[in-house]
Amino acid sequence: MRGRMRRDLPPGEPEQSSYSLGSPIVGYGVARVVDSRHSDFKKGDLVWGRTIGWEEYSLITTTEYLCKINHTDDIPLSYYTGILGMPGITAYFCFFNIGSPKEGDRVYVSSALGAIGQLVGQFAKLIGCYVVGSAGSKEKVELLKTKFGFDDAFNYKEEHDLDAALKRYFPEGIDIYFENVGGKMLDAVLLNMRHHGRIALCGMISQYNLEQPESVQNLIALLYKQIRMEGFGVTEYYDQYSKFFDFVLPYIKEGKIVYVEDIAEGLETGNIALKESICFAAGNGTVRVHFWSDIWVENQSLRSLFPRLLSLSSKKDGWIADMGDLELTMEERTSY
Ligand SMILES: NC(=O)c1ccc[n+]([C@@H]2O[C@H](COP(=O)([O-])OP(=O)(O)OC[C@H]3O[C@@H](n4cnc5c(N)ncnc54)[C@H](OP(=O)(O)O)[C@@H]3O)[C@@H](O)[C@H]2O)c1
Repeated sequence: MRGRMRRDLPPGEPEQSSYSLGSPIVGYGVARVVDSRHSDFKKGDLVWGRTIGWEEYSLITTTEYLCKINHTDDIPLSYYTGILGMPGITAYFCFFNIGSPKEGDRVYVSSALGAIGQLVGQFAKLIGCYVVGSAGSKEKVELLKTKFGFDDAFNYKEEHDLDAALKRYFPEGIDIYFENVGGKMLDAVLLNMRHHGRIALCGMISQYNLEQPESVQNLIALLYKQIRMEGFGVTEYYDQYSKFFDFVLPYIKEGKIVYVEDIAEGLETGNIALKESICFAAGNGTVRVHFWSDIWVENQSLRSLFPRLLSLSSKKDGWIADMGDLELTMEERTSY
């Protein structure tokens, strides 16, 4: 969703163009087929994927990013917007294909309590890696260590010298960096990578809203330490969904991988769910809005809705989002 919430995208395929005012926003969701002229989908099928709108009924004209769900009662359908959906596939293929992990590797995950980071840390622990994550609050750091099984974690906002912090947690260096944030963090990580280390470039959330991206100074480490850094695009992996599903499902059923959900009931509560995510330090994992009887819609974070957000301030009657040339009140935000 994040990529489409920009005004300057050139018009293109409906799935890749900017959202337009007055139209329902479209994202990842779970839906039940009520009618179909596609031979692979029949009435009653449950599906998850992209192109499902924040509306009661959606007309889906492309099935490229749609996967069928073989639903069993022991797995909540909402998992297909998270651990069994896009964030799950991203975490799995980006970590295993690009990170090439092996037992004993030292793994660092930034934005570690995000929808993707929390899974990457758990995947890494499953194969015997040493895993450290960073997050933006004391509470998140505690959760990483106590609930998600990270060996250690730190609050990057309290570290004035990221290089020194990483040296503290990785005195022998980092084998795999799962990159979610970019900018200053990437620069510090480059100084701490080991020879033949791998950087799985999943995202650069610290850069998306900047007019001028930050420069990265230490790229020469890629050369000196023969590090492989590779970008990842989840849409290239949907056809391998079953491989990921067969891997992760037993771990979920055995309780060896945990997943936390935040669900708001009813489409009309979507704005409240967003407001809560604002209050909780501008986004923590995913917010799901459960509406109608069969559809879950995922909204990745406040920043994915408001890509140019500069700051938030509390007012007597709500919140104000400062987006530079634009100031939105809570009511306006719901229709943005
Ligand atoms: N390559 C792909 O195909 C693909 C697919 C999906 C997502 N992604 C990317 O993967 C990354 C993680 O996604 P996600 O769904 O796990 O994210 P998420 O659940 O939306 O979590 C985002 C978290 O990022 C942190 N954050 C926000 N602004 C930041 C900043 N300026 N600097 C550092 N951290 C910041 C916040 O956590 P703290 O409070 O801990 O700072 C926030 O809760 C994102 O960059 C996303 O764009 C890539």
